[in-house]
Amino acid sequence: MASELVPQSRILGVGAYAPARVLTNADLEKMVETSDAWITERTGIKQRHIARDDEAASDMALVAARRALETAGLSPNDLDMIIVGTISGDVPMPACAAYLQHKLGAGPIPSFDVSAACAGFLYAMSIADQFVRSGAHKHVLIVGVELLSRLIDWEDRTTCVLFGDGAGAAVIGPAQGDGRGILTTRLYTDASLTESLCIPAGGSRERVTAEALQAKRDKVRMVGKDIFKSAVKNMSQASRAALEAASMSTDSVRWVVPHQANLRIIRGIAERLDIPLERFVINIERYGNTSSASIPIALDEAVRDGRIKPGDPVLMCALGAGISWGSALVRM
Ligand code: ACO
Repeated sequence: MASELVPQSRILGVGAYAPARVLTNADLEKMVETSDAWITERTGIKQRHIARDDEAASDMALVAARRALETAGLSPNDLDMIIVGTISGDVPMPACAAYLQHKLGAGPIPSFDVSAACAGFLYAMSIADQFVRSGAHKHVLIVGVELLSRLIDWEDRTTCVLFGDGAGAAVIGPAQGDGRGILTTRLYTDASLTESLCIPAGGSRERVTAEALQAKRDKVRMVGKDIFKSAVKNMSQASRAALEAASMSTDSVRWVVPHQANLRIIRGIAERLDIPLERFVINIERYGNTSSASIPIALDEAVRDGRIKPGDPVLMCALGAGISWGSALVRM
């Protein structure tokens, strides 16, 4: 085996969920000054899923979590911890993970959210790995869920065409000494681009006044170009760092599951890593950018349709607001 790292935890099961309602580029053409041609060419997105009005983030997380538990052959009572990567939880307080724990019927186990935007699932995976690795916990449920349609300015064509709603989950448990498992995770944050991707009002810094609502300062703002460049550079670097830590070459990576923000970003990473695009799991055309949910949704699809097989070395990388980014190298 090429890797010198011995995994101590592994992915026991994955699951995903996307709301039934689909919003196509043609639908968006009727809402803002945009076109299917522009969205397809600049982003690769053709449609995205949008949650029902009565659906909260924890409802979406619940379906994904139940599917992950089912594939892992476990029940909620087997869980020792729940970590949810989200920036669009049910309410500002308490954590989305608390609502999820209640809906799952799990015991009074530690349940908390991590705020790392699109990198949230990888942050959750890294934390889960540490708890299982140390022996403190046996089974940790990790979820990436985002209901960004509520946090988008639907009159801002520079952001509203990009995002979709969804959830993905995985159960992390002890490795079994067969080489399968989480080889390494790499996490980073750099605050120099905080203003290029943020929701200005609604926290302790800026209240949601009538003026703030009028100016839509409670919605996502993004300087796309800044984030684009940073995404290609940092997701590639984080991927290389993970491979180096595991003494693995890009050739040995069977699949790359990148955060699905923009097809051009994914192509840029493929070029920089010199890994053919055919070895990337890509579903952005059907989901748009589901932020922290994008990696587990893509992972779930590729596991269920048989592309990703047991033992396959899989590289994951993501970047989002913070900016926070990271990578994970997993032998599935
Ligand atoms: N339809 C038509 N025209 C548009 C649209 C639209 N939806 N949006 C922007 N345009 C116009 C702009 O106004 C601009 O017009 P101008 O030249 O007359 O000024 C032109 O298209 C080009 O706009 P750019 O912003 O330069 O387009 P770009 O090629 O950079 O693509 C995009 C924009 C898709 C947002 C890209 O920059 C991107 O994907 N950025 C990264 C997004 C990302 O990764 N986010 C991180 C995760 S999100 C999170 O953490 C929650």
